[in-house]
Amino acid sequence: MPKTRTKFVCQNCGLESPAMYGRCPECGTWNSMVETLEAPPARKETIVRSRGAALSVVALDSVESAEENRHVIPISELNRVLGGGLVPGSLVLVGGDPGIGKSTLLLQAASMLAQAEPPVLYVSAEESAQQVKLRADRLGLGTNGLFVLSETRLDDVLAAVEQLNPSLLIVDSIQTVYLDELTSAAGSVSQVRECTSRIMQFAKPRQLPVFLVGHVTKEGAIAGPRVLEHMVDAVVYLEGDRFHQFRILRAVKNRFGSTDEVGVFEMADAGMREVRNPSEVFLQERSGNAAGSAIAVTLEGSRPILLEVQALTANSALGMPRRTANGFDGNRVQMLVAVLTKRVGLPLSGQDIYVNIVGGLRVVEPAVDLAVVVAMASSFRERPVDRRSVVIGEVGLSGELRSVNQLERRIAEAQRLGFERAIVPASPHGISQSTMNDMQITRVATVSEAIEAALGGRE
Ligand SMILES: Nc1ncnc2c1ncn2[C@@H]1O[C@H](COP(=O)(O)OP(=O)(O)OP(=O)(O)O)[C@@H](O)[C@H]1O
Ligand SMILES: [Mg+2]
Repeated sequence: MPKTRTKFVCQNCGLESPAMYGRCPECGTWNSMVETLEAPPARKETIVRSRGAALSVVALDSVESAEENRHVIPISELNRVLGGGLVPGSLVLVGGDPGIGKSTLLLQAASMLAQAEPPVLYVSAEESAQQVKLRADRLGLGTNGLFVLSETRLDDVLAAVEQLNPSLLIVDSIQTVYLDELTSAAGSVSQVRECTSRIMQFAKPRQLPVFLVGHVTKEGAIAGPRVLEHMVDAVVYLEGDRFHQFRILRAVKNRFGSTDEVGVFEMADAGMREVRNPSEVFLQERSGNAAGSAIAVTLEGSRPILLEVQALTANSALGMPRRTANGFDGNRVQMLVAVLTKRVGLPLSGQDIYVNIVGGLRVVEPAVDLAVVVAMASSFRERPVDRRSVVIGEVGLSGELRSVNQLERRIAEAQRLGFERAIVPASPHGISQSTMNDMQITRVATVSEAIEAALGGRE
């Protein structure tokens, strides 16, 4: 067998060189040369059909749908994110901050699938078999049919997979396995890329589904080249605040399902517990009739989730007052403060303002704007928001309210949780009736009207 050779390729200009340079001799970029395996033999001048092998052009009509072959993992929140189960031969990259619970969730999934479709192989390149066993015991997981391999050399890993022929392979993590052919260290761009590609070549023809754990960089992206995200079939992130118990599993790419779906988990002693009714959980610690709190309804995928937005305004001792947001975009808070100052006339310019989404959730949806604004106004005026109301709406720069999508669904969820009134934008596309299934609908056109409706008029 010919020995595989490597070359160095500039990630900026594509220059190929047999030697490594700190700075690309072609384009002058620093640290852009990445070690890469040599491509297979050069192109041919003429197209020659490979002799003997059947051509694999097929009529799409004649291809059997593989939808029903999905491996259904008995963790419904995980299945939901994967689009209904794990597709045979698919590669799923699971990213997330250190200690967020990636190994925990995947070990739970491995154990559960191992009961239904043994064997399952968990390759723990980061931890020893004893450590994995310790975790399984702590989480009270069944280990029947579950195999562990603590190995970092990828060829050995694949040889073991070949031998065991598991129904699912988990590689924890892709940054710790390596190929002998490359001289660079495990976790380097070239190793991560080549290892993923090797795993893919191995798994696809065998219809073996694979979970790859990926570390994330300080900026929050999966460490390694962007090309990694293109290579795999699905990329999911486990998000959350380490100091809160909630975790959100979010798909950012999925070739076999929607990327809208999220799974909600709670980190408990016994591992990641599914949260079927996130709204109830997020509201369970809601304080009494305190000022500065409003309930918003956000949509995570197709699921409406109610959450509490808290705001605190306090006289600032600083020349430049502080504006801090937790779980919400800081720039958006600045904008909403400006709208309150200019369009509603609240003198907030000398106030420190803190906004917090309770439960460690991070929301980006503009439909939460109105709840943030109402919570700030409530805190500033020291008047609590009516306890039975939810506020939904996007705030525009002129203080107008803009409609949000799927309003009926959001309202229905609020009603399910016992809320009796929804303050919503009065837009032509919105809801026209004043009640919906006994829920009182208050339609407001501007931020001022919304604040009056929520806080019960001016004092
Ligand atoms: N003995 C323990 N008792 C209770 N909780 C624990 C225990 N050990 C770990 N945990 C919880 O599990 C979390 C770690 O989970 P896990 O190892 O699955 O994270 P990870 O995402 O795989 O991290 P890494 O990227 O470092 O591998 C910890 O943050 C902690 O909250
Ligand atoms: Mg881990």
